Amino acid sequence: MAIRQPIITVVGHVDHGKTSILDRIRSTAVAAKEAGGITQKISFTTFPSAILEEKSKDLLKQFKIKIEIPGFLFIDTPGHAAFTNLRKRGGALADIAILVIDINEGIMPQTAESIEILRANKTPFLIALNKVDAISGWRRISNNLAENIEKQAMHVRTQFDTKVYKIVEALFAHSFNADLFTKISDFTKQIAMIPTSGKSGEGISELLVMLAGLSQRFLKDELEIGKETKGTVLELKKEKDMMYVEAIVYDGHLNQNDTLVVAGLEKPIVTRVRALFEALPLSKGFKPVKSVTASAGIRMQVPDSSEILSGMPFLVAKASDIKKASQEVQKEVSEAIHLDKDGIIAKAESLGSLEALLILLRKSNIPVARVGIGNITKTDVISASSNIQKNPLNAIVIGFNVDISEEVKNEEKIKLLTNEVIYKLIEDFEKWRIEKYQEISRSKLEVMSMPCKLKVLRFMFRMSKPAIFGVRVEAGTLVPEIPLMNHEGKHIDKVKAVQSEGKGVQSAKKGKEVALSLPGITFGRQVKEGDILYSELSESEFRKLKENKSLLSSEEMNILKEIAEIKRKEKSTWGM
Ligand code: GTP
Ligand code: MG
Repeated sequence: MAIRQPIITVVGHVDHGKTSILDRIRSTAVAAKEAGGITQKISFTTFPSAILEEKSKDLLKQFKIKIEIPGFLFIDTPGHAAFTNLRKRGGALADIAILVIDINEGIMPQTAESIEILRANKTPFLIALNKVDAISGWRRISNNLAENIEKQAMHVRTQFDTKVYKIVEALFAHSFNADLFTKISDFTKQIAMIPTSGKSGEGISELLVMLAGLSQRFLKDELEIGKETKGTVLELKKEKDMMYVEAIVYDGHLNQNDTLVVAGLEKPIVTRVRALFEALPLSKGFKPVKSVTASAGIRMQVPDSSEILSGMPFLVAKASDIKKASQEVQKEVSEAIHLDKDGIIAKAESLGSLEALLILLRKSNIPVARVGIGNITKTDVISASSNIQKNPLNAIVIGFNVDISEEVKNEEKIKLLTNEVIYKLIEDFEKWRIEKYQEISRSKLEVMSMPCKLKVLRFMFRMSKPAIFGVRVEAGTLVPEIPLMNHEGKHIDKVKAVQSEGKGVQSAKKGKEVALSLPGITFGRQVKEGDILYSELSESEFRKLKENKSLLSSEEMNILKEIAEIKRKEKSTWGM
C-alpha cells in the first residue's frame, strides 16, 4: 500500500514564530517578505523525506527511526485566525499539528484557542518551544539539541527549566501532559516539546525527526492512499489575470480533465480540471502536471471558478456518479451549517471558519438566518434589511476575518461588524445588541414621556394665549405635548410647543434654555419666574418608567423620585 505525506498544520499565537520555523524548514525567508511580517493567508510547503534522511542521518539513528513516509505537506496559518478550522470530510484536514509557543511568553490567547481546536478535532500534535535563542545567555555550543541543553551555563539552564516548567503546568491546566522530547517514554500519553529557534535554526532537525516518528507510529493506516479522490479548497487566487483554485488533495489521485464536484453553500458546483499544477518542494512555485497523488498542494484552473468557496470539500466523480458525489459533499456542508428561521447574517473567509463562528454564536444563543463565505456585500445588506421591520436586533451583518466591500462601506441602516478575532467579534456584537435594545426601548418610552424638571426664567415673550416664556431644562428631557405640574403637584398646562432660537424643536435636554408656549395660563399667575416645573406623569406612566429603570440615567431616576414625593403628599399610594 502506498502511503501519502502527512498534512501538518503550524498553529499558535501571533508572532510566536510559525512562519519563521517553516522558513527554516525550507531555508527560505518568507517571513521577512510578508507585509508587516504577518501571515495573511494560508500557504503550503511540501518537504520530501530524501532531504530529511540526508540532513538528519545521525538523529534518525539516535531515535531509531526509519523513514517510510514520502515527506510532509506543511500548512502555515495566520495566527490572528488561529481558528481557521481547516477541515476535510469527517474531521480536521491536518494529520498532525505543530503548536508553536514562544518559550519566553508562554501560553497566550490564540495558543489556548489552538489547543482547544486541536483537542476538539483530536489532532495529535507536537510543541515547538520557539525563540530559545532569546533566553538570556543561551549559546549554541553543540549542533545536537539534547546535548546543547545539557551544556548551557548553570543560570541559563535554570531559566530554561523554569520557563519549560511553567508551560508544562499551563498545558496541564488544559489537561495535556507534556514534557521535553528527550524525556518522553510514551508518545501516546505525552506531548513532546522541542525547543527551537526560527532565527538560528536550532532544534529544527529534531522537530522534523519527531514529526516523522510520530506520523509513522500513529498514522500509518490513515496515511494509506485510497481509491477515491478527496480534497479541500484553500482559497481562490488571482495571478496575472488568471483565477486559480488552490487546494489540498488529501486522498487518491487527481488528473487533468477529471470531473470535480465541489460543495457549495446551497448546491454543489460540477466542473472540470482544465489545467493542473503541483506545488514544487520547499515552496519553490508550481509546475504544470497531468496528475497528482495525495497528499498534494495544488493549483488548478477550472471553468466557473468564481463560484468556488474557500474551505469547501470536493470529490472526483465519473459522469454516472455525479448525483451521489453531490449528495456526499453537500452532506459535509449541511453538517457544518445549521440555520435559524429568523436571525442575523454571518460571513466568514472559509467554510471551516464559518463553522467555528456558528458554533460560538450558537453557544451565545445568537440566531443566524443566513450565512456566506467572503466579504460583506450589497446582497448581505439587502438580506439584512428585511430585519429592520421584523426585528431590528437582527439588522446586522457580522464578518469573521473578511472585509466590507467598497459598495457598502457607508451603509447606515444595517450595522456591519467585522473582526479578525472570533471572540472579539462576538463580544462587539453583544455590545451592539445591548445598545440597540436600549435605543429601541428608550424610543418606546419617549413616546410616553420621559421625566423632566424645568426652571422658569425671567425671559418672556407673551403673558397669555398662549403664554410664552423661557425655561432652563434642569434635568431630564423636555418634549412637546407633555403636561406640566408645579412643585406642589398642581396641574399647570400641556406644553404646546418648545422653541429654540425661534424654531420648534422635538426635544430639549439638560442645560438647554428654550421657550415654552402654554395656551391655557397667564404668566405671573399660575407660573412665575423662578418656579420649578415637572413633567406630570400618570401613575401608569410612572410605573412603566420604574419597571424600565435600567434605561434611565441616575438623574432621571432622581426626578422620578421627586415627582413621586410630590404626588404622594396628596395620595400616599400614588404610583405604587
Ligand atoms: P503570524 O503569521 O503573524 O501569526 O506570526 P508568526 O507566528 O508566523 O511569526 P513570525 O515567524 O512572522 O515571527 C514573528 C517575529 O518573531 C519575527 O520578527 C521573527 O523574526 C521573530 N522570531 C521568530 N522566531 C524567532 C526565534 O526563534 N528567535 C527570535 N529571537 N526571534 C524569532
Ligand atoms: Mg506567520
